[in-house]
Amino acid sequence: MNAHQDMLGRLRGHRPGTTLDGKFYTDADYFKLDMEHIWYREWLFAGHDCELAKPGSYITLQIGDYPVIVLRSGDGAIRAFHNSCRHRGSRLCSAERGTVAKLVCPYHQWTYELDGRLLFARDMGANFDARQYGLKPVHCESVGGYLWICLAKDAPDFEAFRAQVMPYLAPHRLKDAKVAFESTIVEQANWKLVWENNRECYHCSGNHPELCRTFPEAPTVSGVQGAKDDPLISAHWDRCEEAGLPSTFKISESGQFRTARMPLLRNALSYTMSGKPAVNRPLSSSIEDGNIGTLLLFHYPTTWNHVLGDHAVSFRVLPIGPKETQVTTKWLVHKDAVEGVDYNLDDLTHVWTMTNDQDRQIVEENQRGVSSPAYTPGPYAPDHEGGVMQFVEWYRNAMEASLGGDAVRLRSVA
Ligand code: FES
Ligand SMILES: [Fe+2]
Repeated sequence: MNAHQDMLGRLRGHRPGTTLDGKFYTDADYFKLDMEHIWYREWLFAGHDCELAKPGSYITLQIGDYPVIVLRSGDGAIRAFHNSCRHRGSRLCSAERGTVAKLVCPYHQWTYELDGRLLFARDMGANFDARQYGLKPVHCESVGGYLWICLAKDAPDFEAFRAQVMPYLAPHRLKDAKVAFESTIVEQANWKLVWENNRECYHCSGNHPELCRTFPEAPTVSGVQGAKDDPLISAHWDRCEEAGLPSTFKISESGQFRTARMPLLRNALSYTMSGKPAVNRPLSSSIEDGNIGTLLLFHYPTTWNHVLGDHAVSFRVLPIGPKETQVTTKWLVHKDAVEGVDYNLDDLTHVWTMTNDQDRQIVEENQRGVSSPAYTPGPYAPDHEGGVMQFVEWYRNAMEASLGGDAVRLRSVA
């Protein structure tokens, strides 16, 4: 049986409320299917508008086999391209970020305009038509300071996401922010284990002493059920919405993305050890006492986010291999906030630096355990792990629809 049919069979046979079979977390062919059917098809979070401050500013990222460059063109528009020269295919930009006047291939110096057109190719003969060799575009969209790319030929609808998320993000002015600090860690675990860990706080009290000072463990906060029936949460929504900050829990039809503004513990204003703001200069529109909690946004499969009054933290997940995942965290502050004057980097980053490392350790142990031939799927805790079940359900539906659809297409071709 090929991997495609094998996976489809296991997805159809998956018992709701339990973890996935070990192959989903370990098998190289299953990983390839995840890449082809999710990562090369869905919209992915790449970075922030504010990282591309001027024409020629770029960031690069690697999505499976695809190197991609995202840049600001001369007309101010942000565009994305495959980071592969049209001559003999060399990667054009190897740095993670930078600023260029033109994109010049390091191999034979073919030179591209910032909108992707090939401007110059030395000694290619009289019949060479440069118009045929522009950089291959990648779909690219911007929403509320977040940049999204999609590798698919035909990208899925993006407008439902924009319509839901834009009102939530608008009061935070993230287009005008700056990245105060960025960290990239590699976790020796399958990307789905990274997500499963993120989607519950059942593990928080035992693992996250710093985060638990301010972030509530309640599943109504991190999960997908019961928020509106939680009086603390609904009172928070009422106060915030009255002040013009969209706040209520909203999840998309497919379950791919969710927005909700949640209160922090003991009226904490930020993810600091004291609960006090880490940044003096506010990032977001606020209310009188500044107590707007945290705006939570996730979008599968690449990102979860916390947007607070004084700063925002974005997380980007990129799979490297079946048992290896890169997680990049960025701390955003008001663009005019000055380090050492308005904020101290250690106060700003301490809680999530510790939390990320604790999460890395627990998902790596999770990976070691599910890699054992003795591992069999176990039950999720119904009250605490509703968010994990929801993630697995989204994954199962997305893969099943895509694999099943392909099977139907293959049959009709045969
Ligand atoms: S591969 Fe880029 S110029 Fe030759
Ligand atoms: Fe965690």
